[in-house]
Order: sequence, then C-alpha cells, then structure tokens
Amino acid sequence: MKLEVLVTKEQLEAKTAELGKKITKDYKGKELVLVGVLKGGFIFLADLARKIDMEVMIDFISVSSYGNSTESSGVVRILKDIDSDITGKHVLLVEDLIDTGLTLKYLKELFNTKGCASVKLAAIMDKPDRRKVDLQVDYVGIEIPDEFVVGYGLDYAGKYRNLPEVYIIRET
Ligand code: IMP
Ligand code: MG
Repeated sequence: MKLEVLVTKEQLEAKTAELGKKITKDYKGKELVLVGVLKGGFIFLADLARKIDMEVMIDFISVSSYGNSTESSGVVRILKDIDSDITGKHVLLVEDLIDTGLTLKYLKELFNTKGCASVKLAAIMDKPDRRKVDLQVDYVGIEIPDEFVVGYGLDYAGKYRNLPEVYIIRET
C-alpha cells in the first residue's frame, strides 16, 4: 500500500481548535453531550473535547453500516448504544468523516426521537462530492476530494486509524 499525505497534523489541530472554540461559544450555559461515533470518531472526539472550554458529558455509540466496507448502504446497525440519559440535553454527534451522509442522517433522525433539546453534527472531514442525501452538518472541518483516506481515526480493513495525519491510500 502507498500512503500519500492529504491533511497534515497542523491542519487537523488548527481546525479542531477552531471548531472547539465555536462549540464553546454556541453551547455556553447549556448541557452538552458529545456522542462519538465509533470507531472512527474516537480520535477527533478526544482532540475536540479538549478544545471545548466548558463542562461536557461524553458518550459513544458504535455503528456499522450493512453492505461492503467502502460504501455506506444507509442501513445502520447499532452495535453499542449510548449509556447516558440524554433527555432534555443538547447532543452533538462527533464523526470522523462524512461521505454519502447516510450514517449521520440515520443517526440524527434516531436521536431526534429521543427527547433531546437539540441534535447537531460535527465532523472533522467532509467529502461533499460524495453526498447522497441532504444533510446539514453544523460543525464541519476540512473538505477533501473523493479519495479513500486513512488515518486520524479512519481505517482500511481495520488498520491505519492511529496515523496522526490523513493519507490517501492506494494499492501498489
Ligand atoms: P457515510 O455514511 O457514507 O457518510 O459514511 C460514513 C463513514 O464511512 C465514515 O464515518 C467512515 O467511517 C467511513 N468512510 C467513508 N469514507 C471513508 C474513507 O475514505 N476512508 C475510511 N473510512 C471512510
Ligand atoms: Mg465513521
């Protein structure tokens, strides 16, 4: 496999700091629960949470979409649900990357039925060219081209999530 840097550590850090600042401003005085979407969202959530300068609660949901590994099907299976009571609280879903938008659209609709005060979406990366559904992403980081990428939480066959930068991966 050949890896080619697409998004640097510095770009990821700067964007995360900017989003954290904006989230702090928007949610000040409100009860905020960050819900990380596993597995890919774990690194962005960890970095983002430390850039939010107020009390927050943190929870995780683990999902897998049916279908093959590189294409989302829109049917999302919940592998692990959140543990906390989010009734009346403001929920921010934290994802690594928005591709077709099917996963987050499904999750947003699901959380909208749970009695939260609000449900918003954050993702550190976005592939707008790939979108299949209309989805408002409230806190979006870096737009990337339609390429398969790994690192900063994103995997290929379960690997490369720990890479500190984002790489385009190509077969050699
Ligand atoms: P969506 O439902 O199509 O928006 O897909 C969302 C999820 O698919 C992302 O959160 C990733 O976990 C995964 N995904 C989409 N594109 C890539 C990629 O280029 N590399 C690794 N995972 C990806
Ligand atoms: Mg994901």
